Amino acid sequence: MDDLALAIRMAGIRKSFSGNVVLNEVDFGLRRGEVHVLAGGNGAGKSTLMKILQGVYSLDAGRIEIDGRDVVLHSIHEARQAGIGMVFQEFSLIPTLSVAKNVFLGTERLARSHLLDDASSVTRTREIFADMGVDIDPNMPMSKLGTAYWQLTEIAKALAQNAKVLILDEPTASLAKHEVELLFALVGRLAASGISIIYISHRMDEIFRIADRITVLRDGNRVLTAPLSELSPADVVEAIVGRKVDGTLQWRERTVDRSGAPLLEVRALSAGRRVQDVSFVAHAGEIIGLAGLMGSGRTELARCLFGIDPIDSGTVHIHGKQIELRSSADAIAVGIALIPEDRRVQGLVLQHSVRDNLLITQLKGLRRGPLLNDRKGSATAAKLIQQLSVKTASPNLAVGRLSGGNQQKVVIGKWLGTDPEILIMDEPTAGVDIGTKSEIIERIRDLADAGKVVVVISSELPELLAVSDRIVVLRSGSIEREFERHEIENEHTLQLAIQGVSS
Ligand SMILES: Nc1ncnc2c1ncn2[C@@H]1O[C@H](COP(=O)(O)OP(=O)(O)OP(=O)(O)O)[C@@H](O)[C@H]1O
Ligand SMILES: [Mg+2]
Repeated sequence: MDDLALAIRMAGIRKSFSGNVVLNEVDFGLRRGEVHVLAGGNGAGKSTLMKILQGVYSLDAGRIEIDGRDVVLHSIHEARQAGIGMVFQEFSLIPTLSVAKNVFLGTERLARSHLLDDASSVTRTREIFADMGVDIDPNMPMSKLGTAYWQLTEIAKALAQNAKVLILDEPTASLAKHEVELLFALVGRLAASGISIIYISHRMDEIFRIADRITVLRDGNRVLTAPLSELSPADVVEAIVGRKVDGTLQWRERTVDRSGAPLLEVRALSAGRRVQDVSFVAHAGEIIGLAGLMGSGRTELARCLFGIDPIDSGTVHIHGKQIELRSSADAIAVGIALIPEDRRVQGLVLQHSVRDNLLITQLKGLRRGPLLNDRKGSATAAKLIQQLSVKTASPNLAVGRLSGGNQQKVVIGKWLGTDPEILIMDEPTAGVDIGTKSEIIERIRDLADAGKVVVVISSELPELLAVSDRIVVLRSGSIEREFERHEIENEHTLQLAIQGVSS
């Protein structure tokens, strides 16, 4: 290929962490104005490659060219100067500061003046958002805004620094459908204006929609670079997983005995403005999918059931007995567990080991005398690591060292290990790779088969359709419809119900 057309060329990139080879002679070329997807399983090396391009990590061997010139990037600052902007998988924004302050945080504008030139950064932020076609008030504190707006603010921040290359690491992991559309339109416009975009994603549908080309990494090796027009989804999945697999998640009809009393019964629950008169029941062994748009009250309902948000009226019953839910301690005491949606507060202790993070929720069961039963603990941790294929050099590695998707698996493993009677999972597979998605669905079925109730909230409809026995659709805080899974013909039917269009 004509190298002059390349905005970025990375050649022969090698990187190891304590003897562990994470990138092995990786080549990567990014053309001007293209959207190039970087794909691969959890821990394949995507973020590491991008952190090298971002000046966060040094490379052990290899070369980087930007616009045809050799560069050595010693720091984020140098990479930024060279025109590389990154939207981090874990956000780099400060919640207590305003949007505008975040957009100009750590940039030259501030460094040069020492004083925050508030007026000009607000004006400039407003211009950038206008260009992006996004409506955000630059004076809002970050903490008041939802995840989608954090994402967009990160992009604005990169654009404020005149990025020519934009790296988006799983940008849609926690976005609702209409926000995804907003982001896609923005990506299209940016690419058309000549900005080159590297897009990391685990979602097959969006890879094919958005990208011109794809590069797949597997265990630190580049295994594929090609235009997407020449590939089928099955080709991509095969490159990622390393063998032929059926990329689609399959629904398996399960039989649930609903003759007896329900395990969980929610009666006319209202809380704040987001949960209005919600009633549903779940029998032991049942998997309930909660569908709805962002803001439809799914997360709020989950938070009520876990005792985080106060209940205004209505009752919750377990095995027919009314329970009090004044705190999450109340919820845990009656066997309810929640895997929350927000990674930032998911409660991993990053500097602690994978093993300790997995066991933290079940110390009681493992305690023998004053000391943790070491052998039993290690066996439990090892089993969870294996079940969820957590990619870690050792159970003793600090969890903060794992890739994003593998951290997510530890969060899930942590709660699976507690053996709750009712497990609520809010967007459980966001950021998890295709191979592991089906494993997580298997674990959910195992729990249900063991007589638990599992409530799954997911914006990914294929996943929701694969896992649920019954789907409850929420809209503006109320139940819009309830489906037996077999009543739903396809994704489109469910999509219409979610949008509030009756079929
Ligand atoms: N600072 C670090 N120290 C030790 N190991 C690391 C460090 N950063 C990454 N790794 C390891 O490098 C490997 C690749 O991680 P990376 O974050 O690049 O994966 P990824 O492809 O981005 O995965 P995901 O899809 O889960 O985000 C993983 O095995 C990870 O544990
Ligand atoms: Mg990553």
